Amino acid sequence: MKKVIYIMGVSGCGKSTIGKLLAQELNIPFFDGDDFHPKANIKKMSSGQALNDEDRQGWLETLNALAKKQLTKNSCVIVCSALKQKYRDTLNLDIETQTKWVYLSGAFNQIYNRVNKRPEHFMPSELLQSQFDALEEPKDALKIDITTTPENIIKKIKNGLMDKSAFGLFGLGVMGKSLCRNLAKNGFKIAMFNRHVDTIEVDVAKNFKANHSELSEATAFDDIAAFVNALQTPRKIMLMVHAGKTIDYVIEDLLPYLSKNDILIDGGNSNYLKTKERGDYLKSKGIHFIGTGVSGGEEGALNGPSIMPSGDLEAYNKVKPFLDKIAAKDKNNLPCCTYVGPEGSGHFIKMVHNGVEYVEMQLLAEVCTILEASGQNLDEIANTLETWKSTANSYLLEITIDILRKKEGNDWLVKKILDKAGNKGTGNWTTIASAELGVPSTLIASALFSRYISFYKEERIQLNKHFKSENTSALNVTSIEVLEAYQFARIINHYQGFKLISEASNKFSWDLNLSEIARIWTNGCIIRSTLMEELVAVFKETTNILTNTQLIASIKEYKASAKKVVSQCILNDITAPSLGESIHFFNGITTENSSANIIQAQRDYFGAHTYKRIDDDGVKSHHTIWK
Ligand code: 6PG
Repeated sequence: MKKVIYIMGVSGCGKSTIGKLLAQELNIPFFDGDDFHPKANIKKMSSGQALNDEDRQGWLETLNALAKKQLTKNSCVIVCSALKQKYRDTLNLDIETQTKWVYLSGAFNQIYNRVNKRPEHFMPSELLQSQFDALEEPKDALKIDITTTPENIIKKIKNGLMDKSAFGLFGLGVMGKSLCRNLAKNGFKIAMFNRHVDTIEVDVAKNFKANHSELSEATAFDDIAAFVNALQTPRKIMLMVHAGKTIDYVIEDLLPYLSKNDILIDGGNSNYLKTKERGDYLKSKGIHFIGTGVSGGEEGALNGPSIMPSGDLEAYNKVKPFLDKIAAKDKNNLPCCTYVGPEGSGHFIKMVHNGVEYVEMQLLAEVCTILEASGQNLDEIANTLETWKSTANSYLLEITIDILRKKEGNDWLVKKILDKAGNKGTGNWTTIASAELGVPSTLIASALFSRYISFYKEERIQLNKHFKSENTSALNVTSIEVLEAYQFARIINHYQGFKLISEASNKFSWDLNLSEIARIWTNGCIIRSTLMEELVAVFKETTNILTNTQLIASIKEYKASAKKVVSQCILNDITAPSLGESIHFFNGITTENSSANIIQAQRDYFGAHTYKRIDDDGVKSHHTIWK
């Protein structure tokens, strides 16, 4: 990969000598930053005046443009004192993943003596001191002590910088492998690690590298120390291992080899509370931690997932160029990746994403059941769903159509799949989190519990014998009515999902941007849809989508069909819990005077829990002796 090697340090540290030697050794062009000063700067300097930041800005931009231009052809070495971080930021602008920094470091006296030994050179000690005063030591550069020969310095630079990888991927499961290929395709030099387990996981990384041409530059390891050592500092290591305890074990395995300011990124479906704990723990060890949701499955990880990072903002900015590059792009070609917020907020929204995903999947499953009960076979259902794409398109709708059409012999494959739905726990966590936060995410619970009901296959068979439906007639609903009921429930699903995010944001002071979250979910992730695209604009105006004029109109338009479809299901003994719940929830959330007064009275009756009245100031608590 082409790169710009910036060599920095105070005047007299030997930048030009080392830069020239290095360029020669690597057979790439050399540029001395001082040759690019505009006339005004040269005039100012030759009159003995120091340059200020304003004078420097244009010059640094020129060097940045030079670096960019050079990168279109070749690597190069550029030397520049670049004493302050903001100067280096300008030099890095838009090319930070392709720049390497070498900082030549020496003590004041050593440099002072060295400079003043040079013939025709004199640097007053105040001038050198002012350079040391201005110097903000870079955290990310390769720091080279200049008290050795130039040959040794070159050797150290070559060892320390040239052959190291920019990004590490730990764990080569399905997602880890796809992310590696995605990073490599995007020009990043990566190091890949997979553990060795005798006879079970042997040479996984090496074999993976050997089987994919895009990984020719990548390095492959099953030894943690070697893997860590192969990375440029501060190291950036993405963990793609099973969520849960494994993450903690892996962190402990890595810690002895990491250095201060290294960055670990957990890209699994981790619990958001654990992500905060891990971030705090690693902070105490001087290591940065980013928890990130990654959605899109194997295909997404390979060609562009939706990425939801959170935690340490400073560390995020260092990995942003990598994540932005590999992420899916929205319709404005912006990366479907954004800094979500502090702590475990990235994993929180990924968890809610999965909750919304459970519901979208459940609704489609219910729709298929209903359309089948109304007399359509699976090919006909697929054709019906195909027509829905123009108004209700989504990734999950598309894959459901493919699934319905898949045949095995003369029969539909899906008919042969055992009807027990699995889960890996994120829907469970979403339901727990909404209960803990006091948010009524009833659709997520209904979709989760439907999966749990499905798991009681044997009991379902047994009870079906006692309670077999007497109904044999076809369901009296049209495809349009089913579509409208489906759309109604989807709006409620998205209302509930974002409500949960918004309430968590308030509770934890995360200050999450709902529009931006919807935006990064418009591509790459499992719940991407045209509805999600609409929500990007809706959330710019409100946090409650049920107050948006357009969506109010849609709900009003679809509600009659939703009522009819759900009623027909009930009358015909068809289970459609998420569609049903969408109406119950909607009726609940739009009821001005609910039956909760009865609940309050009951609580007060048996437990003296007291109640508030609507005919006084509403602050006082009342208790009644009810009998
Ligand atoms: C995604 C998916 C992904 C995975 C879930 C499914 O966004 O790419 O949500 O994270 O498919 O783990 O979870 P269940 O096994 O619980 O359905």
